[in-house]
Amino acid sequence: MSLADRAPLLEAVGLSKWYGQHHVLREVDFRVHAGESVAVIGENGAGKSTFVKILAGAIRPDKGKLYLSRQSVSFGSPREALRLGIAFIPQELAYAPHLSAAENVVLGQWPSRAGITSRREMLRRAREELERIGLDLDLRRPMAELKLADRQIVEILKALARRARIIILDEPTAALTEAESEALFRVLKQLTAEGVAVIYISHRMDEVFRFSDRVDVLRNGALVASAPTAETDPSELIAHMLGQAAETFESTGIESSDEPPTLVLSHWTLDGVTRLQDVSVEVGKREVVGVFGVRGAGADLLAEGLAGRRPEIRGKVTIDGVTMPVFRNPRAAQRAGISYVPAERKKDGLILGLPIRHNLSLLILHRLARLGVVARGAERTTASTLISQFNIRCRSQHQPVGQLSGGNQQKVLLASRLANRPRVLVLNEPTRGVDIGARLEIHRRLREIAAAGTPILLVTSDVEEAVSVSDRLIILRDGVVVDELVGSRKTQGQALRGATGRASA
Ligand SMILES: Nc1ncnc2c1ncn2[C@@H]1O[C@H](COP(=O)(O)OP(=O)(O)O)[C@@H](O)[C@H]1O
Ligand SMILES: [Mg+2]
Repeated sequence: MSLADRAPLLEAVGLSKWYGQHHVLREVDFRVHAGESVAVIGENGAGKSTFVKILAGAIRPDKGKLYLSRQSVSFGSPREALRLGIAFIPQELAYAPHLSAAENVVLGQWPSRAGITSRREMLRRAREELERIGLDLDLRRPMAELKLADRQIVEILKALARRARIIILDEPTAALTEAESEALFRVLKQLTAEGVAVIYISHRMDEVFRFSDRVDVLRNGALVASAPTAETDPSELIAHMLGQAAETFESTGIESSDEPPTLVLSHWTLDGVTRLQDVSVEVGKREVVGVFGVRGAGADLLAEGLAGRRPEIRGKVTIDGVTMPVFRNPRAAQRAGISYVPAERKKDGLILGLPIRHNLSLLILHRLARLGVVARGAERTTASTLISQFNIRCRSQHQPVGQLSGGNQQKVLLASRLANRPRVLVLNEPTRGVDIGARLEIHRRLREIAAAGTPILLVTSDVEEAVSVSDRLIILRDGVVVDELVGSRKTQGQALRGATGRASA
């Protein structure tokens, strides 16, 4: 029996929502069956979050009906929806930070006898759910101390502990690393195998095709496509995301200037599995130039080459008119005025056991050092300036960096790389593993840094980041520059289309 013949677990008919005059959802129909996973995609502002929040009871529709197992339902709150088996995991997780993970899992649900809840019993109960999804995690630790990926897992456990039959996630992988995303999808896959329905918003095509049974595309508040994933392809989906409006966006490109570019990469070439073929890129004085490609396209090679970590690349670098070969080592790159923010901050960006203060001055010790000793006063002053400039949330500059959240660690890293006033800032996946709030702050800072005259080369495999932060976006596919997007062409759809090579529309 095909899915179409079975009764849907959850069905929405004609959902509409207005915010004032703004028609954000237009008669959207939707169905999900037990054991099915549905990806919801669309450009920013398409109405995805509004839509799933209605399914989860967080927003009331102005029109339309919801049916759960064919029964008409209407939720007054996420709590009511949860009681009926629909769990929602928003982008900004809501949890009790000081309670343990186990307490969060059973919070508000565990019957406490005479006001006293047995900790051991609670832990046992939470562990049961953890075992069910085959993961390992220390549930006794306070939520606030867990990584974002683990906090999401706890949210899922929470949903399972309440016997949720439908789990809805709003861009769950936006701030996860590749490995964390994989782990999350493994869990979700197992849940669908057990009959749970999963609805998730995604901005990554690879996730859509690896995990979902069906994909629904929203554009401008309307459902413009709903297809079994096996029967569609990225180019078709992208065409639906963009629609006719694709070419009519307002231009946001920067004005061309007569100033010579600050940074020029010329004819970079490298043979190998991940290769580069005669890649040339220019970055102007106040520009953020993005380089976007799928994994293996070679984009990260550009960042690493500029950092002096890829001496095998052939080609030239010109900085402020001075031309040299691709850097032989990181020292050479630093001497040429390049500051590099690596993707793996834990591996090679920060020293987690050291205080924030020291991490912030790692690159400027020579400036702060006097008579061979670091001038403590200068270091402290520099640290407090950077902490406030970058809005780093910490107890004090003496706190070890390892105690901060991923987002705040990333701010420390970025600040440390700017402390020595580089000529050019090069970033490789700057917001991977960073929560949404910090991500937005970092994006804003990057725009400001460029505007203040430090050009930025941003290498990212996150299409939303690539499009929203860059002035100009270079698309790399299999080591070749296949497109350059500015103004009205600089959209997520165009970027994906170029990067995946599936021409359409
Ligand atoms: N509370 C609100 N008040 C007014 N407008 C809103 C509100 N929430 C969302 N919107 C608008 O509704 C549209 C859809 O938003 P959203 O559902 O968040 O889109 P998406 O998740 O696809 O990016 C956007 O134009 C957004 O600005
Ligand atoms: Mg959204």
